[in-house]
Amino acid sequence: MKATVMGTGYVGLTTGAMLAQFGHKITCIDIDERKIDQLNMGQVPFYEPGLDALVKKHLNKNLKFSTGLQSIVNSKVVICAVGTPPNQDGSPDMSYVLAVAQQLIPYLKRYKVIVIKSTVPVGTKKIIQDYLLSQGVHRSKFDIVSNPEFLREGTAIHDSFYPDRIVIGSDSQRAVSLTYSLYQQCECPVLITSNEGAEMIKYAANSFLATKISFINELADICEKYSVDIEEVARGIGYDKRIGLHFLKAGVGFGGSCLPKDLSGLIYLADKSGIDPKVLRSVSHINAERPYQVVNKLKNVLGSLENKKIAVWGLAFKPETDDMRFAPSIPIIKQLVEEKAKVYAFDPVAANNAKPLIPECVKISNDMYEIARDSDAVVIVTEWDLFKNADLSLLKKVMKYPVIIDGRNIFSPADMKLQGFNYYGTGR
Ligand code: UDX
Repeated sequence: MKATVMGTGYVGLTTGAMLAQFGHKITCIDIDERKIDQLNMGQVPFYEPGLDALVKKHLNKNLKFSTGLQSIVNSKVVICAVGTPPNQDGSPDMSYVLAVAQQLIPYLKRYKVIVIKSTVPVGTKKIIQDYLLSQGVHRSKFDIVSNPEFLREGTAIHDSFYPDRIVIGSDSQRAVSLTYSLYQQCECPVLITSNEGAEMIKYAANSFLATKISFINELADICEKYSVDIEEVARGIGYDKRIGLHFLKAGVGFGGSCLPKDLSGLIYLADKSGIDPKVLRSVSHINAERPYQVVNKLKNVLGSLENKKIAVWGLAFKPETDDMRFAPSIPIIKQLVEEKAKVYAFDPVAANNAKPLIPECVKISNDMYEIARDSDAVVIVTEWDLFKNADLSLLKKVMKYPVIIDGRNIFSPADMKLQGFNYYGTGR
């Protein structure tokens, strides 16, 4: 099938590459010329393991890139995968989605399915439909499908080829069938819902995941007070199938482009409808406090942080990505700087993206041991494998004091004690 994907971020590009692999003829469009030039040279503008290879494999065959809209003419399906970043009040910025709807108007002379993959609030399908009708587009020329994406950064390729489920929300059987035929090769449950149901499912999924994380983080604080290991507790409850083992890693809190944004989006929707979302608000509140707890822990160990040299290991909001959106490292570093610590930071891929987001006085280095030299403490913020496999005897040798604050529980407390570190994990 011929399809056009609007937006070449994580979702748009991964979806485009996957559909190309499935044998569809895909054109990915973006307004950013530099990005399109890069993609046409086979370069992915962000770090996502495996995506480069997949794009290169299909480039100029099943997969094309363009800033022009020409491919829409012959596309049966147009997939909207543009961003919906959060506004100040927590609501999503819908301007990019609406711009896509506007761009489609001249092309809706022949029937097309508009598949909305961007995360959008409940009611968006109706807003777009009403808008197109108000612009003189005939109702018979389009259907709108709400088809949320659940891929995670860092494992985007795997998540797209092997999704846990596919949600197709539409009131048109014809549109459902066309959308389904895009994904036919995925072996997973396919859920056909209303548009509004699909829109809500995405917010609900991410807010539930966020709730699991804030729950385990609160539990971690309680465990710490009673000298119980949160990792044991997480496993102990996680083997209960009703709870599940995933998303029970205590740490410095959730970041990234989706969980914080969708949680605020759902809170905003609830508020607007007159519901006070108490659970969701607590989830957000607990998460906002996590970075300060790391700094407080450090202060409890070292006393005043003034002029103390602190090495921060990890900047990206999670491993295997260079994404810094809502990364917990940002508030942690800002707080350390406020406490007048001398902050050094290292990340294997996110350093360049981090620079404009953290205070200029922070020295970013490309050597994780060098930043630890003569340091008073190392704070682990992102659980990169590189850190898990660190040469601990070298680390101990270069540090002034062997203090480790492990915000991601990547080491075993017993092993670290044996190695001679003053090790402080999270919730253990
Ligand atoms: C998330 C959703 O998982 C995905 O389905 C959706 O499509 C987009 O949003 P992503 O933001 O890429 O994906 O990352 P995810 O793996 O969900 O992690 C989000 C944050 O939660 C990270 O900061 C991570 O460190 C944190 N996290 C995750 C925890 O602190 N503990 C956990 O147990 C899991």
